[in-house]
Formats: sequence, structure tokens, C-alpha cells
Amino acid sequence: MIRVDLRSDTVSHPSPEMRKAMYEAELGDDVYGDDPTTNALEARAAEMLGKEAAVIVSSGTQSNLVALLAQAGRGDTVLLGTKSHILNAEAGGASALGGIVLMPIQTDERGTMDPDAIRAAAKPRDHHKAPVKLLCVENTQNMAGGTAISPEEIKTMADAGREHGLRVHMDGARIFNAAVALETPAAALVAEADTIGFCLSKGLACPIGSVLCGDAEVIEEARRWRKMLGGSMRQVGVIAAAGIVALDTMIDRLADDHANARKLGSALAEMRGIEIDLATVETNIVRFGVPAHRGNEIAARLKDEGVLINGGDSDLRMVPHYGIDSEDVDIAINAMERVMAEVAG
Ligand SMILES: Cc1ncc(COP(=O)(O)O)c(C=O)c1O
Repeated sequence: MIRVDLRSDTVSHPSPEMRKAMYEAELGDDVYGDDPTTNALEARAAEMLGKEAAVIVSSGTQSNLVALLAQAGRGDTVLLGTKSHILNAEAGGASALGGIVLMPIQTDERGTMDPDAIRAAAKPRDHHKAPVKLLCVENTQNMAGGTAISPEEIKTMADAGREHGLRVHMDGARIFNAAVALETPAAALVAEADTIGFCLSKGLACPIGSVLCGDAEVIEEARRWRKMLGGSMRQVGVIAAAGIVALDTMIDRLADDHANARKLGSALAEMRGIEIDLATVETNIVRFGVPAHRGNEIAARLKDEGVLINGGDSDLRMVPHYGIDSEDVDIAINAMERVMAEVAG
């Protein structure tokens, strides 16, 4: 029996308050723009992030996709980090569907990009090159271990892009984790971004949904792309209702997930065979290395102990979330100790 699921914060379930709000949500047809609950969520999200407008979409992937399609055309280039989710884990949608060239810029350990590398990639304006239109930054940076990128770091990257006329999109799937970790309002973290997408369905524990925010013009263009992708939804207020509850009740508690992640990270650091840089455990993601080619076996053994984690060849990930308490973390630590004693001796 699975007792603790640490694969991702996406496995979190909605709170009782969210379920009630979904049940009772006042509904309309959002394609006609008259779903009051959706309109309320979009207005709330835009206000919280200091942007003019917002649009609900089905997923983080769709928020990134419509943001890119709305700001870069066929044959245009989008710059993004080598560790970015858009490049590594979104099925190449912007290239396949939008004819966009995705040009990776080396990201450092924390997930930031060297501004000079951005300048160098953004600069060329000649007929051999696909024009560079957009720079993407990610916060928190999933593949760097959930690092929270500061407003100063974001500004440095954004300024480098703007020098060459680039717009800036932020994949803020977990922007509220960054805000809580940095004790900085989310609006300050996204001030440099023309568009910012955040997920309701991860640490905020909604069952579905993301919101893309930006100025009214770009959000209108994103709505057109959402329609083309088949992503316009009708009585989507059932989802938006949970989103409103999430923005009201689920942000401050992210600090609990961060504390649980630190507890997990500190325990893992003591175990033989595990490599972890505790400095990267800034939010709710705990990434660590295990002996080469043993990752999947370790994940399978943990599963036998009732603990699910995200496996890989030699890199593993645990992500505490709503529904995981300190006792669950102890269960995971104890199981991991038994497994690593067998694997690493
Ligand atoms: C940083 C980041 N961006 C985007 C996404 C995509 O979100 P979704 O799974 O809702 O498509 C994820 C998902 O884990 C993510 O971690």
C-alpha cells in the first residue's frame, strides 16, 4: 500500500474548502466571457501579480505554449535556459505547433543564465539568423532543485534581453513558492516579465489549471491561441472556484512544504551513497544523486516500502506538498535509510 507519495506537488488533492467552492461555484460560459467565477479568478490573479489581465488555461504547459505563440512567430527564436521545463519537458510544442526556434542558453547550478550569454544570443540581426523575440526565465527553477530566483537575478537577465528588444516570459509554475521562500511579494518577482504563467495545480493543490498574466493585448492574443489549441473551456468556473480558494488559503502554507523539504534534505545528506547540495533546497523540491544506474532500483525498493518518489538513472526527486505532514516525512526518511543501507552498504 502506498503511504507517502512524494513524486511531485502535482499529486496533491484539493482541500475540503476547494471542493465545496467547486460544488457551489456560480457558472456561465467562459467562451462568451460570462463565467463570473472565472472572471473573478482572472481579475484576482492579475491584481496579485501586478498585471493588467489574465487568462485561465488547462496546464502549465499550455500557459507556456500560448505565451510563446503569442509573442513569437514562425521562424522566430526564443531564448531559454538549458535546464528550463519548456525546453526539456513540454514535448517541443512551441517548435512543433508554432515553428519557433528554441535556443538554449547555458544555465548555472541555480538555474540562472549569464547576461552576457543572453546578449550574445540576442544580438545578431542579420538575414542568416532567425530573429530573436523572447527570453524565458523560470522561477522556481525545477531542474535546479526548486531554487528561488531573486528579483535582482531576474532583472539582470531581463535587462540583458531588453537591451536587444526582447520581451520576457516567466514560467512561474511555482512562483508562490519563490515568493514565500524569498519573503517577497510575487508581484515584485514578476515585475520584469511581460507574461507570467503560474500553476494552480502544484503546491497550491488545485486539481487542474494555470493562469497566464500580462498586459491586455498579449492576453487577448493568448486567448486566440488557447482557442486554436482547443483549450477554451465552458463552465470552467468549477476549476476557477478552487483557484480562488487556493490564492486565499494555500500560499502561506507553502512554508510547511519548504520545512518538510529541508528536513528530508538534511536526513538524506547523512545517508551513505547520497549526494545532495543542501543549498539548492530552497523551496519544496529535493533533488539528489545516488550511485550511477541505481536510481530506478532505489525508487522501486522505496515503492515496496510504500513510498513513491520520482526515479531516474542516478538523479532522484522528492517533493513534499499539501497532504504530506512531518510524520509522512519520517516514514519516507526511515524507508530511505533501509533502502540505502542495502544499496550503498
Ligand atoms: C517549471 C515548470 N513549468 C511548467 C510545468 C508544466 O506544468 P503542467 O504539468 O501543468 O503542464 C511544470 C510541471 O511540472 C514545471 O515544473
